[in-house]
Amino acid sequence: MKSFYITTAIDYVNGSPHLGHAYEKVLTDTIARFRRQMGDRVHFLTGVDEHGQKVQASAKKKGIAPQQFCDEVSAEFRALLPKLTITNDDFIRTTEERHQTVVRAVLQQLFDKGEIYQAEYKGFYSTRQEQFLQEKDRLPDGTWPELFGEVTEIVESNYFFKLKQYQEWLVEFLTTNETFIFPAYRQKQVLEFLKEPLNDLCISRPRERLEWGIPLPFDAGYVTYVWFDALLNYYSAVADRPEIWAEAHHVIGKDILVPPHAVYWPIMLKAAGISLPKGIIAHGWWMTRGAKMSKSTGNALNPLDLVTEFGADAFRYFLIREMNVGQDSDFTREQFLVRYNSELANNLGNLVNRTLNMTTRFAGGVVPAAEVEEDLEKSLRDLWTKTRDEFLPLCEGYQFHTALERAMVFLTETNAYIEKRAPWKLGKSTEAKDAALLRTSLATMAEALRLAVAIIQHVTPTTTEKINAVLGYTPGAVWRDELNWGGKLTGAKVAGALVLFPRPAPPEKPAAPAKLA
Ligand code: ME8
Ligand code: MG
Repeated sequence: MKSFYITTAIDYVNGSPHLGHAYEKVLTDTIARFRRQMGDRVHFLTGVDEHGQKVQASAKKKGIAPQQFCDEVSAEFRALLPKLTITNDDFIRTTEERHQTVVRAVLQQLFDKGEIYQAEYKGFYSTRQEQFLQEKDRLPDGTWPELFGEVTEIVESNYFFKLKQYQEWLVEFLTTNETFIFPAYRQKQVLEFLKEPLNDLCISRPRERLEWGIPLPFDAGYVTYVWFDALLNYYSAVADRPEIWAEAHHVIGKDILVPPHAVYWPIMLKAAGISLPKGIIAHGWWMTRGAKMSKSTGNALNPLDLVTEFGADAFRYFLIREMNVGQDSDFTREQFLVRYNSELANNLGNLVNRTLNMTTRFAGGVVPAAEVEEDLEKSLRDLWTKTRDEFLPLCEGYQFHTALERAMVFLTETNAYIEKRAPWKLGKSTEAKDAALLRTSLATMAEALRLAVAIIQHVTPTTTEKINAVLGYTPGAVWRDELNWGGKLTGAKVAGALVLFPRPAPPEKPAAPAKLA
């Protein structure tokens, strides 16, 4: 069994989780579930980033101690996971001792090796991004991009990590490991960034300015820079399990690729003598009217509202179907409803209803065996083979949106098959040939439905389970073997009905104006 280790970014706990955070969990869960289906031994880590200026400031604003503040908000992030049917194996908080121990050990080791030195720091800092800025980050008019929020100048004595001396090594590494970052165009952007000389990384904040962090093991007057602390979570969670670490993949948003994940992180690992992750997957942003959804701008949607209204599967389906991993997408309720109605309720929901109804009506609720294969059956079967063959590489390459689109095409064609075969007409005939065709059509729609839900189960796990249950089907242990067209439902006893993806309640109409007497 091959190991596969997958992580999400750890969220700042300075505010409640929003749709962007939910997406990252759902995407990572989709990958985790897919790899499990492929037979890998998956370890899936998510968690929260609890230190730093931003969290300290939020706690202060609420008038409570940072630890209490973190406990409260972390619980909210954690509670979101089961609501989204996320199958994480572990949840890490950077205030946990298991994490802090590893951070201190790595810092001490780097300090002992002479990779960390003390010097005067002068520069600009963005608290929103918890990031040091450089002159080249300024816009042409001299101001800072909105993403950085308020930017302050800092002048103080600090500790620095010797980043610069690894620049050539990193360029070499990225040049020889062309698929390290997904999508590939992002890797090119990192190499572009590395054309400018790097500065050494300031990894400390004086205690008098920032209390809320991990004290430097070699100077108690300082705490660790939050990114140096946070990045290590991926490693600290599995530090005693090298077989898992060896297969690490990080899912993050594009805003934290350069420099934290693509520059600091590989260099930190290299300097500490720890092996590098296998890959980084950088997704794009969910936007509202062209602006990134975020806690700081207050334009973010609460994912729980949508889950409550439509269920976790519909929510997951929309996020994965709509977004091409790496690119941005606008989130609108209208677009959500279009996909919900046309793809889930009509396409999938209809096929389920028709299969259950017709099997009940024409075959006493027991799926018959297929008896003939005419052109209609053959072309649906051929479409299945094509769908399946394209689907696996698409998912392996994180093209889940296209994979779902293929599944939808297959469902549409299955519904079209039913229209053309018209079992309701065959049912009226007294010809033996029509009776055989009727049984064949019932077997064909049931088998097509079974296959379709098998290839969307990493996105809509609850729906797949429900459909298998009403089809009287228990899938075998090896998922790939499930993908062969093979009359696996012959003899299965199906249920009478299943309500899936009900029509949402129409928006409330304004009360009719009172009639004039
Ligand atoms: O950056 N659309 O935390 P964070 C899609 N603590 N993804 C979004 C998004 C949006 N509108 N808004 C945020 C941090 N995200 C650090 C990470 S990792 C060692 C430390 C994504 O709470 C964002 O890109 O600001 C990031 O991957 C994750 O949510 C957490 O963002
Ligand atoms: Mg952020």
